[in-house]
Amino acid sequence: MFETLKGTIIHAPEPGKTEILEDGYLLLRDGAIEGIFPALPEGCEPERAYDFTGKLVIPSFADLHLHAPQYAMLGMGMDLPLIEWLNAYTFKTEALFSDPVFAREVYGALADNLIRLGTTRVCIYASIHRESAHILMEELERVGVTGFAGKVNMDRNTAPELTETPEGSLAETRRFIEECRARRYKHLSPILTPRFTPSCSDALLEGLAKIADEYDVPIQSHLSENDIEIELVKKLCPDCEGYWDSYARRGLWRDGTIMAHCVHSDEAERAAIKDAGVWVAHCPDSNTNIYSGVAPVRVMLDEGIRVALGSDIAGGAKLSMFHVMGEAIRASKTRYYYSGKREEERFLAVSEAFYLATSAGAAYFGAGPGFAKGDMLHAAVLSDETLPPSRKLTSLERLERLIYADDARCVRAVWSEGVKRF
Ligand code: GUN
Ligand code: FE
Repeated sequence: MFETLKGTIIHAPEPGKTEILEDGYLLLRDGAIEGIFPALPEGCEPERAYDFTGKLVIPSFADLHLHAPQYAMLGMGMDLPLIEWLNAYTFKTEALFSDPVFAREVYGALADNLIRLGTTRVCIYASIHRESAHILMEELERVGVTGFAGKVNMDRNTAPELTETPEGSLAETRRFIEECRARRYKHLSPILTPRFTPSCSDALLEGLAKIADEYDVPIQSHLSENDIEIELVKKLCPDCEGYWDSYARRGLWRDGTIMAHCVHSDEAERAAIKDAGVWVAHCPDSNTNIYSGVAPVRVMLDEGIRVALGSDIAGGAKLSMFHVMGEAIRASKTRYYYSGKREEERFLAVSEAFYLATSAGAAYFGAGPGFAKGDMLHAAVLSDETLPPSRKLTSLERLERLIYADDARCVRAVWSEGVKRF
């Protein structure tokens, strides 16, 4: 079946290079992208034609790092630094997810809001609870959010009710993966989710590396977010070459492993990231809220590290990837200023933040850059009607305004995996 979306088509197939076609057509065949055309090809009579004239049609967003249970504590405890915040708020909140009824309520609301905000791909943490992790998968499937979800692993330095034994944690993880396969989620897969080195023993990390081999599943965790955390890891792993090595020596430092934050990753750690093919989930809103610092995104990009964006709910206080893009730009400007405006620290342009939130993140899920031919459509349709009236804006200026203003009402339609979901 052929479908068309007519509107101003904007995508970023390369970093910093935004391609725009005013009043163009996105042509789909059975949900897959056939191409972008200034006029419909001769003889093409689509069964469905969506007219979004005057609106912007962009690739939908990928959020490479967020914590589903923390949606219940959005915007809370932000005057505390990481470890204190985890102990005072986060672990108490995550403990509530032993209750499947509460999990359904929170995860249902989260899923609804993700799709309405145009986020169609995620790498997401659940809590330690296997049953709730399935509820998260079900709710994401219900609305059409795709990607990877993980049952968290923790066997030390957490709340008593969240402390697993290494054997128990590994057994639950195996069971989770096997159940995911039996249930055949359509667009969601399991991802191994050791929370971070402070809350995972060596035995647990080593066991997870074996599971990664056996089941061929990817891995997500946290790295070099906060100064106190980094000191703690030095104490826990005195022989490690750096924080990164606490994962590497247990077999989790791999091509496709996602590490959130990397705010304080030094040159050696960044080289290890690059060499292994580890991905960085940059979470600027979270890094500002719990004052972890400002990650060296420009440096990482120039070094060829694969970087995408994460909301890191609820270190981050907003799900909207418009907000996360805006925060990435603002944080990079602050860093640029305080570097003495050094060239190596030049701030992110709007088109670069747009690339990071769309093509860069989508690549983690195997998608081609921008609206790539043959990919199932992931798109959001944006209106700037709710922004102040203006005249003669370019399409790029319209996109810039939407990013800086972050008005959730702007998302008017969303496609995920070739299907209109909102
Ligand atoms: N490091 C370990 N756990 C967490 C978490 O839940 N949020 C953030 N921001 N950092 C973490
Ligand atoms: Fe996080």
